Amino acid sequence: MAQVHVIALGGSLLRPEEEESREMWFGQLKQMLVHLEGLGAKVGIVVGGGAPAREGIEIARKHVSDERRLDEIGIAATRINATIIQQVLSQIGIDVAPEIPHSTEKGAELMREHAVVCMGGTLPGHTTDAVAVGLAAEAGASGCIIATNVPYVYDSDPRENPDAIHFESLTMSELGDICGVGEPLAAGASAVVDPVAVQIAMNDSLGLAIVDGRDMERLENAILGQRFKGTLVTP
Ligand code: UTP
Repeated sequence: MAQVHVIALGGSLLRPEEEESREMWFGQLKQMLVHLEGLGAKVGIVVGGGAPAREGIEIARKHVSDERRLDEIGIAATRINATIIQQVLSQIGIDVAPEIPHSTEKGAELMREHAVVCMGGTLPGHTTDAVAVGLAAEAGASGCIIATNVPYVYDSDPRENPDAIHFESLTMSELGDICGVGEPLAAGASAVVDPVAVQIAMNDSLGLAIVDGRDMERLENAILGQRFKGTLVTP
């Protein structure tokens, strides 16, 4: 049976500070997907909204009091980013689904028909981390890769606390103690792992790998189940 992999790809990864890093990152992403397709793997890529999601939500926030409406703006941004990845992969001949699914059920269905499926958000009330963990459960993956822009899960925010301690391995309940479990974040708010995603992983006994997605070697090792630099969370 084909290996099934699901990756939550943080939206910030598409827009690094320097243009040069962006070209390198896209080149490495394409190479990795060609390799995975060659291995006969099925890959679901759930892309985050990054800066356009935050900017859109910020612009509307003064005029829109309902968080769910703001979430819709974030979802639209995630789908633009998913379309960028989808078209880039399609251009080099990868068998990527031509549709951006709006539910994890549809995403899993498309994964049965195509080597790669790209999608963004689904419904208000969670982030693309939760979508990715839901897709992993739906598609029969044993876990989900969270590719973000920090190298590890820390005991506190390393951008605010220089003494933050990182973890190479955690249990799901330890991750829940750090990130929270089940409580939705405000529209556009960020956490290393969305508490709703932690809840789904707990319910479905899925493992998680949190990895710095700016480093494609780490990301590929995590996807292939090899030793990787990052945080491994066991169910
Ligand atoms: P992201 O998944 O991009 O949030 O969704 P994030 O954790 O900040 O990730 P990155 O690193 O920027 O990619 C952006 C916003 O879109 C809405 C939420 O408001 C979220 O904060 N959203 C996204 C939903 O409401 N539902 C979804 O399924 C996905």
